[in-house]
Amino acid sequence: MKKDGCVACHAIDKKVIGPAYQEVAAKYKGDKDAATKLVDNVKKGGVGVWGQIPMPPNAQVSDADVKELVAWILTLKK
Ligand code: HEC
Repeated sequence: MKKDGCVACHAIDKKVIGPAYQEVAAKYKGDKDAATKLVDNVKKGGVGVWGQIPMPPNAQVSDADVKELVAWILTLKK
């Protein structure tokens, strides 16, 4: 997480530039395709889901790392 630079824009429990991971987990709660969708969005970047600030593509992060990060994020729901 730290090494991939995600923390520059995300925190677990508060909005920084991107949404708090707990909010992401809450939003996708009950969506069985969430993990697949989020892996895709994290790799390619995204905009418009949470606001007008885009997340740049995180292409330098390996597939395995992105999957692990997304799986972890989805466990954070309260
Ligand atoms: C330069 C800032 C920045 C960095 C670096 C960044 N993000 Fe984001 N992230 C954002 C913004 C802004 C959004 C909201 C995009 C939107 O509205 O669609 C976002 C959205 C997300 C979402 C929700 C996507 C969705 O479709 O709902 C996830 C999950 C996420 N980021 C994970 C990560 C992970 C994991 C990393 C590190 C590999 C990372 N982010 C790095 C800014 C960033």
